[in-house]
Amino acid sequence: MVCGSRPTSTYPSSVVVEAFAAEEALAEVLAGRVAARMGAGRPLTLGLPTGRTPLALYAALARMTRSHRIDWSAVRTFNLDEFVGLGAGDPHSYRTFMERHLFDHVAIPSRNVGFLDGRAVDPAVECARYERAIRAAGGLDLVLLGIGGNGHIGFNEPADALIAQTHATTLDEPTRAANAWWFGGNPAAVPHQALTMGVGTILSATEIVLMATGAAKIAPVRAMLQGPVTTRVPASLLQLHRNVRVMVDADVAAALA
Ligand code: GLP
Repeated sequence: MVCGSRPTSTYPSSVVVEAFAAEEALAEVLAGRVAARMGAGRPLTLGLPTGRTPLALYAALARMTRSHRIDWSAVRTFNLDEFVGLGAGDPHSYRTFMERHLFDHVAIPSRNVGFLDGRAVDPAVECARYERAIRAAGGLDLVLLGIGGNGHIGFNEPADALIAQTHATTLDEPTRAANAWWFGGNPAAVPHQALTMGVGTILSATEIVLMATGAAKIAPVRAMLQGPVTTRVPASLLQLHRNVRVMVDADVAAALA
């Protein structure tokens, strides 16, 4: 490489990429791994995503919990993000998403569920509280992630600079459009702001697993794996972590080959 040139197509050796025929198979394998970590009431602190990508995973976890009587009593969770203005009880909050798709189906003690409160009067105070709560829980053992079409993780949008810790942020228009399905298909109903774990919070986890399925995720996954580390592709910062696994379906895998 010529000194000073822009690095291209450098495949980071520390990131493991695992391909599956379909998202159901991916979800089944990941759910099995997560469930195995909870075995016999072992403590586990998870960072959890919302979006369409983890739906199959949460369905598989709910199913396994029923069929294998998985004990969630020592599991703690911290969701990645929440819309400003929304919180518990709001049909469009991410908290409601998680209740509907996971927490209502497993016996996790409510005190073990960590969530950013989008209705907090002072977002900065709320974000600082969240960082303290994660630290007090002993940190994040495993963070599960999806990826936005623009390479965002959580709600860390592409920018010239990123904030490491949990913070309030303004959403890009494509991100609001991508979230419209959770707001009855109406992009105008999607809040303009959100609270999110920062990339530093995510990178502090012992282990990170990013799921990416469907043709719309080809470009961001290529950028995060094969492009340079840049705040313009927030997921590319995962290249700096030593224990990252990217689980993809056949659509994405074919484009990486
Ligand atoms: C949202 C969430 C992200 C998620 C992304 C992708 O913006 N804040 O955490 O990864 O969307 O969503 P989907 O899985 O629906 O494509």
